[in-house]
Amino acid sequence: MRVAVVRETREGETRVAIVPELVGKLTGLGYDVAVEPGAGTHALLADEDYTEAGAVIDAEALPTADVVVSVQPLGPDAVRRLKRGAATVSFLPVNQELSLVADLRDVGATSFAMELVPRISRAQSMDALSSQALVSGYRCAIVAAGMLRRFFPLNMTAAGTVQPAEIVVLGAGVAGLQAIATCKRLGAVVKAYDVRAAAAEEIRSMGAKAIELELETLEGAGGYAREMTEDRAARQMELLAPYVAEADALITTAAVPGRTAPRLVTAAMVEAMRPGSVVVDLAAESGGNVEGAVAGEVTRIGNASVWGGRNVPAQMPGPASKLYAQNIVNLLTLMTAKPGEGDAAGSGGGGVFAPDFEDEIVAGACVTHDGAIRHEPTRHQIEGPAIEGETQ
Ligand code: NAI
Repeated sequence: MRVAVVRETREGETRVAIVPELVGKLTGLGYDVAVEPGAGTHALLADEDYTEAGAVIDAEALPTADVVVSVQPLGPDAVRRLKRGAATVSFLPVNQELSLVADLRDVGATSFAMELVPRISRAQSMDALSSQALVSGYRCAIVAAGMLRRFFPLNMTAAGTVQPAEIVVLGAGVAGLQAIATCKRLGAVVKAYDVRAAAAEEIRSMGAKAIELELETLEGAGGYAREMTEDRAARQMELLAPYVAEADALITTAAVPGRTAPRLVTAAMVEAMRPGSVVVDLAAESGGNVEGAVAGEVTRIGNASVWGGRNVPAQMPGPASKLYAQNIVNLLTLMTAKPGEGDAAGSGGGGVFAPDFEDEIVAGACVTHDGAIRHEPTRHQIEGPAIEGETQ
């Protein structure tokens, strides 16, 4: 069976779904790997790197493949070119891609969304949200350090002492904790806040000070945060304002799954920062934690330069692609039946792509299969409520 690695076409996407060093894992599972010409170019990976690793370069990889892997979801034209019954594995933000999901259903594709891989221990090696958040968190800290016109660490010299930079990080999930760890490694003094109760201990374990506010914590399902009420948001802003005003750099990474990013910082709070301050908003693309942040741009608010993140993992395409590719390979391994298992008959001794829809990870990540939308909230949005007694 054939796995195709596509050349990403969405503007600004530099990553690639499989890196040459992991081609051998797929051929080892029994797949032929076909790569579209130039697929790795933006991640500084040449076509020859793929062929040396055992793949073929093929402009017709997509329509001939049984499984198509990509970072961004395929475009509508690519969906129409899929082989009947082919599978796709990519990021697929279902809420924003309803018409694409309908297209995938209509062509009979089996599609999997990396965002929907359940965040359970067994699926950690397939968790692309975490692997890419790690890259983003690191990048945010480096951007803040690069923009700030002062040292991060304390410097004690014969000429005198230079105090370390003070950094505030809001949102201490995967990206926020990585931003904290990176700022600490550079020697800054870091304070951080998150609405989840468990976060305070995680912040302290990174060597930062946990900001404790006299507010209830907000745990939602699956270890995620819940959305704030307007009252709580206003109170949180009021309590955080003095911390923001004192910071040399503010890094925000707060998110609530399936919602626009929570607004944590007003323009007035940024205006109260000292001259030369820096704000890095990782959530700028999904609504922004900071009022006035623009994705992909540096804006000026009061005395501060405000950097709005846009596809931040793509700013480090090499490591981001490698980690993502590892997530994809691990998911494909789970969905590959070894010879003698599943419907492996006639596979020529290799494994075959045979997802077990009884498996929690496979079922959770599946968006469309066999002409139907399997992800119920998305099916509901596209097709309306299920008719009573109707099977899904
Ligand atoms: P995320 O990207 O959805 O959110 C980032 C952070 O923003 C979260 O820590 C959240 O609590 C925080 N946040 C939301 N609203 C906020 C507000 N109003 N003020 C301040 N902070 C706010 O989350 P991420 O990073 O993807 O994961 C969050 C948690 O999910 C992890 O810390 C962990 O508990 C769990 N998780 C579990 C995994 C597993 O079991 N495989 C893997 C990854 C995460």
